Amino acid sequence: MRKKIIAANWKMNKDINETSEFISAFQKEMQGSDCPAEVVICPPFTALHVAAKNLQGSDFKLGAQNLHFEDNGAFTGEISARMLKSLEVVYVIVGHSERRQFFAETDEIVAKKVKKALISDLKVILCVGESLSERDGGVTEKVLERQVKAPLGGLTAQDMANLVIAYEPIWAIGTGRNATPQQAEEAHAFIRSVVAEMFDRDVAASLTIQYGGSVKPDNAAQLLSQPDVDGALVGGASLKADSFAKIVRSCPFGKTA
Ligand code: PGA
Repeated sequence: MRKKIIAANWKMNKDINETSEFISAFQKEMQGSDCPAEVVICPPFTALHVAAKNLQGSDFKLGAQNLHFEDNGAFTGEISARMLKSLEVVYVIVGHSERRQFFAETDEIVAKKVKKALISDLKVILCVGESLSERDGGVTEKVLERQVKAPLGGLTAQDMANLVIAYEPIWAIGTGRNATPQQAEEAHAFIRSVVAEMFDRDVAASLTIQYGGSVKPDNAAQLLSQPDVDGALVGGASLKADSFAKIVRSCPFGKTA
């Protein structure tokens, strides 16, 4: 059975005090919850250290929102994989549409980051997703195929065990307009078919594919009950401990998942 993962992407939100407050409130909210999904919290870089301390001894995992593909050097403002590892970071988000859109990250850069993260023993949450004009223009599958194939080319089946894909249609991010469960399912099934073609059926069948884009407590269960939807990457609704906990608690995955 595939691993289920629900991740909080805080983006550029929360200082160290807000991070500590969130984590203690969230841990209280989650007491007694038996959702079998892995929970990942991705604060900004500046709050990773305090988050790591606060998460010690819990089952919740720490994630970062980005990394640079070089090991070190003259890259002002950048953060390396090794720096993240030293902060007990387990996951790193790569290729979020906001990075592609506002920070000019190309498929080539995304591919380099994915490779660097994996050889550095970080697990990757690779984001893919089409814009509204691409969806309206009927090229959703073409875009997804390109965004999946570029970074996955050259990876091994073993690498794939440490990689998660997050399908995040750009038109659904932060807009309050989530994809319908059917739209999400179609895109996820398509992504899985691309991975099956690149690797094999087993790799595709064990790949966790999260949905992201306006996931909220009131739509999470429906989205997550789709057969190919294995979790969620949550932005806005992950900023409040109670709403993120509601999303995690509403997950319909069976205990044996
Ligand atoms: P949202 O963001 O939940 O606020 O739409 C999701 C994301 O960008 O990962």
